[in-house]
Amino acid sequence: MSRLSCIGLVMLGILLSDRALVLADRQQAKPSTAAQGDAERGRAVFNGRGICYYCHGVDGYRDKMPQLAADTAALIAQLNPSPTDLRNSKAQHLKTDKQRTRAIREGHPGTGMFPDQTMTDPELVDTLAYLALLRREGS
Ligand code: HEC
Repeated sequence: MSRLSCIGLVMLGILLSDRALVLADRQQAKPSTAAQGDAERGRAVFNGRGICYYCHGVDGYRDKMPQLAADTAALIAQLNPSPTDLRNSKAQHLKTDKQRTRAIREGHPGTGMFPDQTMTDPELVDTLAYLALLRREGS
């Protein structure tokens, strides 16, 4: 990876995490009582404060990219590998929710997916339920 794109990725991370913090301040996390995640709540996290839709598209549709600031959109368009199609289970490398939890919390090594530390644990469980729904809907 070129030096420039490394710097770009770091900047992207800062840009996005700033925004996530703003969003986190604005809306308080709803308490989740379900032991199994709630996919509908996970969808709101995905398309909201988790900012997953920035890269993976609204509702996981890669052709439904949100309107972002031009510089942010340009950095995302340059990501290599490009963000996974989360509706296509065959295109996915991770096999378990444990692996997915790590990828979300710690970032996806070697890619532009940076660690998320703003989601609460119940929000993460809901997001995993939503990701499972996307894989089911896609197949
Ligand atoms: C900055 C862009 C970006 C953001 C924001 C982002 N991702 Fe990703 N995501 C990626 C990239 C890039 C990959 C890796 C693609 C690859 O390895 O081929 C990836 C991979 C993944 C994978 C692994 C798929 C697999 O099994 O191979 C999952 C699951 C995932 N993202 C979920 C999420 C969730 C949930 C969020 C929100 C919390 C999120 N992503 C936010 C860019 C992003």
